Amino acid sequence: MTHFRIAGTGSCLPEKIITNNDLSEFLDTSDEWIKTRTGIERRHVLSDGESLLSIGKEACLRALKMADCDPAEVDMLICCTLMGDFISPSLSCMLSGALGLRQDCFTIDQNMGCCGFICGLRTADAFFMSGSVKKVLVVSSEAMSRLVDWTDRSNCVLFGDAAGAVLLEAADNAVDFDFNLAESHEHLHVKRAGDNCPYNSYNYGNEQIIHMNGQEVYKFAVIAIVDRIKSLLNKNNLSPDEIDTYLLHQANLRIINSSIQKFGQNPSKFPHTIEETGNTSSSTCAYLLDIQNRAGRFRRGDKVVLCAFGAGLASIAAYIEW
Ligand code: ACO
Repeated sequence: MTHFRIAGTGSCLPEKIITNNDLSEFLDTSDEWIKTRTGIERRHVLSDGESLLSIGKEACLRALKMADCDPAEVDMLICCTLMGDFISPSLSCMLSGALGLRQDCFTIDQNMGCCGFICGLRTADAFFMSGSVKKVLVVSSEAMSRLVDWTDRSNCVLFGDAAGAVLLEAADNAVDFDFNLAESHEHLHVKRAGDNCPYNSYNYGNEQIIHMNGQEVYKFAVIAIVDRIKSLLNKNNLSPDEIDTYLLHQANLRIINSSIQKFGQNPSKFPHTIEETGNTSSSTCAYLLDIQNRAGRFRRGDKVVLCAFGAGLASIAAYIEW
């Protein structure tokens, strides 16, 4: 069966860095609280002159360059984002133009919250299996800074902005996924802003901000990671020891550490970037993948597992033979 190999990776962080101490200048918080509860030390935030389009484009260009791939060779672009710069046209449409992709290059925006990037890989895989594409760009570009309440210390300290991309090529590598949706939006959601249509009584308010019950999401996350990875490994007759690298959604270092313990693995198999970026929703796995790839971590034949959880409540794990 044809799946894909990762031929190139790229990422881009906004220039502006906000440290925990910067936040404590206008919030009742501290570097000590944020670091010990989450592992986060700083985050990057879009500022004037930057956009989801600009960082997404840069991440894609870096992935294309690494793969030595001309934009005209790309058959499909999947863009994972909670909300693009515009509601319409989609970010994937805008990126396609900005990158100079072919006019018949098929584009999709995929909104699956923090699971978005891995769901994007899953979507791409279906097209590779159908034989209709040879090269696919999957990019995550997220601006959590636009969705947090900057007056709420329990919320805004956790998040940041980032983009990450991969250029996938058709190949016969082993690739598999395990997905689960426990439909629930009670503990994690972003409502859309209200409208002024006189024919309905929606009352969403005007603020599009993330609402999260941290403790409930935490409990869901530690269970979901173990369930997804165990199920995926069982399907592929693999043991946790056989996996070379685990790339987990970067939401909280304590969640990552709990997974290390539950699988009884060496912590070096679970690299993390949360210190630098905070939680950047679907971009965390894409960014982490690029950083590790550029550090020379992956060898041909390596067994890599990615896993994410988030809004939905959805969780997904991917097994990719490098
Ligand atoms: N600075 C100082 N104190 C704070 C802060 C802050 N930034 N935020 C909350 N506190 C206080 C609270 O008010 C509370 O005070 P109290 O005891 O006087 O009431 C105390 O710290 C403890 O608050 P908790 O919410 O119980 O803290 P907890 O240890 O649960 O950590 C956290 C909160 C970090 C949000 C944790 O629950 C978590 O990481 N949850 C998972 C979040 C997650 O994984 N999200 C991913 C999905 S969403 C997505 O990825 C887009």
